[in-house]
Amino acid sequence: MRVALGVSGGIAAYKAAELVRLLQDKGLDVQVVMTRHAREFITPLTFAALSGHKVITDMFGEAQGASNVESAIEHIAVAQEIAAFVIAPATANVLAKVAHGIADDFLTTLCLATKAPLIVAPAMNVNMWEHAATQQNLEVLRIRGVRVVNPDEGYLACGMTGAGRLASPQCIAQAVFETLGLRQDLAGETVLVTAGPTEELLDSVRYLSNRSSGKMGYALAEASRRRGARVLLVSGPTPTEPPAGVRLERVRTAEEMAQTVFAHLAEATVVLMAAAVADFRPAEAYPGKIKKQQGAPVVKLEPTLDILAAIARRRRENQLIVGFAAETEHLLTNATAKLHAKRLDLLVANDVSQEGAGFDVDTNIVTLLFPDGRKKALEKMSKLDVASRVLDEVVEIRKQFGRHSREGGNP
Ligand code: CTP
Repeated sequence: MRVALGVSGGIAAYKAAELVRLLQDKGLDVQVVMTRHAREFITPLTFAALSGHKVITDMFGEAQGASNVESAIEHIAVAQEIAAFVIAPATANVLAKVAHGIADDFLTTLCLATKAPLIVAPAMNVNMWEHAATQQNLEVLRIRGVRVVNPDEGYLACGMTGAGRLASPQCIAQAVFETLGLRQDLAGETVLVTAGPTEELLDSVRYLSNRSSGKMGYALAEASRRRGARVLLVSGPTPTEPPAGVRLERVRTAEEMAQTVFAHLAEATVVLMAAAVADFRPAEAYPGKIKKQQGAPVVKLEPTLDILAAIARRRRENQLIVGFAAETEHLLTNATAKLHAKRLDLLVANDVSQEGAGFDVDTNIVTLLFPDGRKKALEKMSKLDVASRVLDEVVEIRKQFGRHSREGGNP
């Protein structure tokens, strides 16, 4: 399988050499494409030697003997051949050009010419990273389905400290493997995901619901499938497009969601409860339509079953359970209480009042909480990236479970 690696100009360009090696380790054939600025930092010869291919630097190569037209055709053939295109490092300038469809060199032309999925790993000075222009360009790319591997925080080449340092080559390589379906660390697992809101009937035409879009749960289902799991997705009503290759069961009420989850629980080795299940439902659904003339109705609510708490109580040995917490205040205190009360292996807490987090957006800002008191606050990222980070932890916890079972202890 062939992939293209685009290298743009930045001090981190040398790290792309390590990325070539990691991609090759999985049997990928790497075609390197460099911008003019990248060549100020590292020579094409380095990449040619590592990849075993002539590096493409110009639209009309300084080709040996070939005419300009021939080399342009040869180059554009790359667009058809590749299974993925990863740009690492991606400068603010390259991100801006790609976001706006500008194609003024080979690297940016390839972005337009290929139908292969695009992965970008930005690296730049912290002020450039935080600039509204860069952030808006990234938003455009994410919405278009581009996978963004966020930079790390730390000491930057410009002497400043903050976000902007290229993510590790390992992290970028994993994003490529996931996109290509080559990361199979959930093979053998059956992942049960709940997603979306529930609708609790008030009368025959009205219901109580919430703003959940199901996007976080669908991203978890998609990411689990890509990593080799068999996926059962139990979803409340949402217009979000379901991922391919998963078994989808649509439900409407909290009661239906509970029944469907229980019906599949025995098969599940991992349960990811991302649904925004109603906590209360009208004690009685009026059989017809409540008429105005009847006056303002007084609706008595009754609690629904807490599905997550119920499955955590009945959990099988080695069944791994992850809960979500949507909070608007005292995020960590409330979420920690849920983690312990429901005896979860991991809790993904998100403050739904923050911009770029929670309901009906493509990004999320979450903190991962573990039963041993560890906390990991993740920066704002796409829901697919959050899903991937959650699954990284699932894989880690699974390894611990394995160790405990082999040692004869309880997980
Ligand atoms: N959950 C569930 N069944 C319910 C309510 C919630 O399975 N009836 C699950 C959600 O899917 C989520 C977790 O419990 O994984 C936490 O949901 P959340 O709404 O944040 O918290 P609650 O436990 O409902 O508590 P509160 O509404 O008071 O914050």
